[in-house]
Amino acid sequence: MNGAGSALLSEAQGPRDIRYVRTLRISVTDHCNYRCLYCMPEEGMHWLPKAEILTYEEMREVARAALSHGIRDFKLTGGEPLLRHDLTTLVAMLRGLDGCGEISLTTNGHLLAENATRLRTAGVDRVTVSLDTLDPDRFREVTRRGDLARVLDGMAAAEACGLGPVKVNVVVMKSLNLDEVAAIAAHTLDNRRTVRFIEFMPLGRSLLRDADQFVPYDEIRRRIETALGPLEPASHDAGSGPARVFRLSGAAGKIGFIHAMSAPFCSTCNRLRLTPDGQLRSCLFDGGEIDVRPFVRPTLDAAGLHQAFLDCVVLKPDAHQHYGNRQMSQIGG
Ligand code: 5AD
Ligand code: SF4
Repeated sequence: MNGAGSALLSEAQGPRDIRYVRTLRISVTDHCNYRCLYCMPEEGMHWLPKAEILTYEEMREVARAALSHGIRDFKLTGGEPLLRHDLTTLVAMLRGLDGCGEISLTTNGHLLAENATRLRTAGVDRVTVSLDTLDPDRFREVTRRGDLARVLDGMAAAEACGLGPVKVNVVVMKSLNLDEVAAIAAHTLDNRRTVRFIEFMPLGRSLLRDADQFVPYDEIRRRIETALGPLEPASHDAGSGPARVFRLSGAAGKIGFIHAMSAPFCSTCNRLRLTPDGQLRSCLFDGGEIDVRPFVRPTLDAAGLHQAFLDCVVLKPDAHQHYGNRQMSQIGG
């Protein structure tokens, strides 16, 4: 962070102060080519009508307004962001904005191998890949239509063209991968990737019965330490947001935990979200959102858009209370 940025941050009063916000997560589509058990039903998703989805030009204007508030970093998410046609166009637009900091992408990795170089060239700095298991049959079970080999190839391709080290998101579920967390964690011993274990969150119409599947941070951590030895605190990666980050002794990579359920991190949350249909959202869980579409169509209202960020950030909750009615794929992780 530059000097002016850190001065602003130190003056900021906390998450409801726009100067505290560092990252805008832009969900570019609600579509996905996977149907993860914890995210979507197998059939019958209701997709947003195309006309309601922001164009890249409209997203660029929202990003420009974010920059005018000192928000520097952008994370592209979905759904699956690589399903949106010609995503590199948006990346290049963001890269071209004055003051743009880090651009990252969260993807399921299915289309990553063939897109990695183009994304890097357009200006993406790094990628996060969702990968809950290293067993091909289980992977298909969790994602319903995924292909583990493609995702692993995608990660390798991303690292080969400078988008690494890749961060790997692992949603931990009791019946699906809890027995695998130590083996997954062990991959950080000789690999520079950061593996982040995520507590399962009961969002939207999840098909998993929450009480059955939820595993708290303490238990995930205990399993890893029992098998592999104590975790040592490690430095935060750029843009790692709410993760608590550790390292196994002598390991090349890091291990993070995102424990939104057992220990909410609302008091240090420094991100806002933009949904594909133009809702500027204060929190993944709680409902506070501002519709910014009227400020970008039919014509740009730059002053209105600037104000929308101020109106949104004060909607941030002290601690999230309830889990809303939108799927993760409609909010953007
Ligand atoms: N609980 C926890 N994590 C989830 N993700 C999607 N749905 C859930 C859920 N219900 C994760 C994905 C992805 C990230 C953006 O959010 O695995 O890595
Ligand atoms: Fe798609 Fe990600 Fe949801 Fe899985 S978790 S269905 S990859 S949006």
